[in-house]
Amino acid sequence: MGTSEQRRIVVAVTGGIAAYKIPELVRGLGRAGHRVRCALTPEAAHFVSPLVLQTLSGEPVRSQLLDPGEEGSIGHIDLADWAELVVVAPATANVLARMCHGIADDLVTTLLLATRAPVLVAPAMNVNMWNHPATRDNVAALRERGVRMVGPETGELACGWEGEGRMAEPAAILEAAERCLRAPSLRGRGVLVTAGGTVEPIDSVRSLTNRSSGKMGFAVAAEAALRGASVTLVAGPSHLPTPAGVRRIDVETALEMRDAVLRELPDASVVVKAAAVADFRPRVVHERKLKKEDLAPDQGLTLELVRNPDILEEISRDRGDRVVVGFAAETHDVVEAARRKLARKGCDLLVANDVSRGDAGFDVDENAVTFVWPGGEVEELPLLSKAQVAGQLWDRIEKRLLGGRE
Ligand code: PMT
Repeated sequence: MGTSEQRRIVVAVTGGIAAYKIPELVRGLGRAGHRVRCALTPEAAHFVSPLVLQTLSGEPVRSQLLDPGEEGSIGHIDLADWAELVVVAPATANVLARMCHGIADDLVTTLLLATRAPVLVAPAMNVNMWNHPATRDNVAALRERGVRMVGPETGELACGWEGEGRMAEPAAILEAAERCLRAPSLRGRGVLVTAGGTVEPIDSVRSLTNRSSGKMGFAVAAEAALRGASVTLVAGPSHLPTPAGVRRIDVETALEMRDAVLRELPDASVVVKAAAVADFRPRVVHERKLKKEDLAPDQGLTLELVRNPDILEEISRDRGDRVVVGFAAETHDVVEAARRKLARKGCDLLVANDVSRGDAGFDVDENAVTFVWPGGEVEELPLLSKAQVAGQLWDRIEKRLLGGRE
């Protein structure tokens, strides 16, 4: 995927071990036809050689705020104005905090405060630093302001810990950068996305639910917003931050999700249903907590379940010009099951995922999906980040389903 045009990108490198991967990113951006200038914090130069970055980018590398070499002009402002995109990679907890609070005490943070270009950040740090409430708040505030994020990924960390905090791979950062630079191809479109699992109460403290985290649907909503759509996200309970530029409606039950979807439907020309909606709910919801003491010691409890409405089927039926895309969580015979589901639900495209795999589907950062088309065509994608899956999905919706439609 390329924007096909040469664009001006500043790669701002901060002091983390993942900086050793930045030469690969700089080379990738150069190969994609872009001009790249690197700016380093003083700490970053301990992890990656400025000379290597200079050689690969073919442009001078800067790390000093007050650089006598840039006499006569204000170097950091020049760099900030020159950039059509600033990529901060790796982004340490420290730089995220300084960005969040508008601190400009070195070249990188000063140019970040001065630039009017979009900013893409690839965080990399220890898992506990990433999960610290201070970092969470800083990241949420930055997202809110429109700063885009790629990663971090989960895995083995340089510090010896396992968990979320590994910088996204250079190829994923490159792809995210291309997405940031692309023209807003969905501008003027209303998009409705559902995400997460529904929660069906049994009594005042217990419920039936599933393992959906919302990550897939949130990524679909975020990507649509990046492409300029006006996005509404109807979400089951999820701790995920709302993607920048997305309007979010929180719901709990399938019935609440149906109400919200039907209410928002008139403004949507595309609906993507990534939510894991409970097919059944308890017929009776007890107002008080059910007590085992109220039953004989050997007596079990039978819950009677009733069917929930199938929202996807309902909105596919009279969709007119509206594009409707469903997801399908399958555990075996994925493609065959998805084909049957597509025929039954009648949507324009079904994105099938094998949720029996440990590395894809529910509550992980990656997914392996197969696009199943009504004509019988099937496209299997490799394991990708959910953001990449969302990009692939919107590419197809735009080319094959929206082509020519207003
Ligand atoms: O949220 P994550 O942790 O990131 O996990 C992502 C995911 C695995 C939940 C997601 O990729 C996914 O597969 N979502 C659909 C899950 C699902 O409910 O599949 P299904 O086969 O039961 O339903 C098929 C389609 O019908 C879905 O679009 C679903 O939203 C819709 N549906 C289902 C039941 C119902 N009563 N109403 C519906 O609209």
